[in-house]
Amino acid sequence: MPSSGRDRSDPIFVGNLIRHLATRAQRPAGVAPAAAVALPPYGVAWHEHNLPSSLRKGERWQLYVRAENRGSRFWPAQHPEGRSVELAVYFGAALHCTASIPHDVAPGEDVLVSVLLTCPLDAEGGAWTVTVSFLEQNVAWFHEQGVTPLVIEVRAEEPETGALADVEAIARRSNWSMWLPTDGVTRSRTGRRYPTFIEHAAGCRVRDANGREWIDFVMAGGAALLGYAHPEIQAAIARALTSSAVVTLPHMLEAKVTGQLCDLFPGAEMALFGKHGSDMCTAAIRTARLHTRRRTVLYSGYHGWHDWYVQETVQPRLKSPSAAPELFRFDLNDAGGFDALVDQRRGGIAAVILEPAAQARSLDDPPSGADAAFLRHVAEVCREQGAVLIFDEIVTGFRHPQRSVQQAAGVIPDLTCLGKALSGGMPLAALVGRRKIMETSPNAAYMPTFRGEVYSLAAAAMSLEIHQREDVPAQIDGIGTALMEAVNEVSGDLGIRGAMIGVPYRQIYRFDEPDARRRGLMRTLLQQELLQRGVLTYKGFMLPSLAHRPADVEQTAAAFREALAHVQDVADNNSFVRALEIPLF
Ligand SMILES: Cc1ncc(COP(=O)(O)O)c(C=O)c1O
Repeated sequence: MPSSGRDRSDPIFVGNLIRHLATRAQRPAGVAPAAAVALPPYGVAWHEHNLPSSLRKGERWQLYVRAENRGSRFWPAQHPEGRSVELAVYFGAALHCTASIPHDVAPGEDVLVSVLLTCPLDAEGGAWTVTVSFLEQNVAWFHEQGVTPLVIEVRAEEPETGALADVEAIARRSNWSMWLPTDGVTRSRTGRRYPTFIEHAAGCRVRDANGREWIDFVMAGGAALLGYAHPEIQAAIARALTSSAVVTLPHMLEAKVTGQLCDLFPGAEMALFGKHGSDMCTAAIRTARLHTRRRTVLYSGYHGWHDWYVQETVQPRLKSPSAAPELFRFDLNDAGGFDALVDQRRGGIAAVILEPAAQARSLDDPPSGADAAFLRHVAEVCREQGAVLIFDEIVTGFRHPQRSVQQAAGVIPDLTCLGKALSGGMPLAALVGRRKIMETSPNAAYMPTFRGEVYSLAAAAMSLEIHQREDVPAQIDGIGTALMEAVNEVSGDLGIRGAMIGVPYRQIYRFDEPDARRRGLMRTLLQQELLQRGVLTYKGFMLPSLAHRPADVEQTAAAFREALAHVQDVADNNSFVRALEIPLF
């Protein structure tokens, strides 16, 4: 429990005092203050919330609350001495959770706070009293300082039953990593279900155990480029099923797929296999470090979750050991920034690794196309520096026009990381590249047990045959362009300031809203409304596949029409709190 004492030497208190005195100083002589009563230090006006009148036991719900700071104290979102103001939520007398406020809140200002709740499994008298309050960490609970908390009675319904509800209950108990894209919020207040677990996937559609269907534009993170359960891929796996999935010696298919990759990728003289894109990025960096005997790595893009890179993606407490490479980030297509970085590290650069196009840097930056001149420049600098050039084509491979950025731009890297679409949705990744460098890889302590798993190699062999036979990227470009145009037309019809941005194979709708907070609310609400209308995206990114047909685009555009109109309506009325149900992103 925080103590309720208040320190008059506290810089925040002093700050408020100065503000208070300044306000008094500006008042013309003889004019009485508008409010003669000084504000109490802690005060809250509760404006709105989105808790429904009933929830199920065990159900997850994203609470949104808008409140106003009616006290004299400033609410810091973060405080160097741990005195941040946070939201506190109780079920009955038990503290359920606390949540950070998203920004500092001065007296008189509003704040919208959001937190994911998991309802308790029991409820005395069939209802919960949910109490919402604030606390100033290590200083005071607001409700102990005379602030009236927000108190909401919520009826506790019995948990849902059925196959889907059963697995959701297991996940809630034992595996929170499963929840995409609603973080475990299973249903809307409209009664419509959100996607949680899938029972069946084929083409571009996924279905849950209740028979609800979505058009999927995530396509397993882009792995199912040919569509789910592609018949030729399924048949190839079925043929391989007569033999074991794992064997002591390499299966003949491994040699076959190696040959296919060396035919398809310009600089590929040798290949190495693994299960994840991250495996290949790690193998590439390790190989480059051994080859050059250097430690510095320049990178641009996302390169997975292994130790060498994890310091860039996960919280500082998970920082990799000191033997990790020294990493420096550069922006794609920014030759000046890249050169400046190289100048500081001359002679010490082991590798330059980059996603050569369509990086998903943020939800606001459009994934950009390939810039051949920039890539040529990077390749020349690498050659001059004796650094290994690695293209991470885990997303662009088999999807970018001409099947890869290196092919389209005519810039051949030393090493190429492949994954995702390589094997028609089966788990396989590959590193291909120049013999001189790849020959170092046996020393790179790279030896995953399942690297030669046969069914994925069978799927890869078939997938590569399809790519040798058909221009898959041209078809993806066609369907992606149709999607972009259809959504932009809808958006234009509705007079909404926003558009699909990115490249046809990786695109996202961006609202042209200057306030970043409002833009986030609009973005989240759009995804929520699309999910309710049968279109599945994750954080808004859309990756079309070979299985998406014009009818799917039409249905998606119709869903966008309703969803965008709703978002606009909510934005016009600033009624986000009541409209939102899923976590903000
Ligand atoms: C460009 C890129 N590199 C590497 C990875 C890591 O691949 P995986 O998740 O298969 O380990 C990803 C995954 O999204 C990626 O997009």
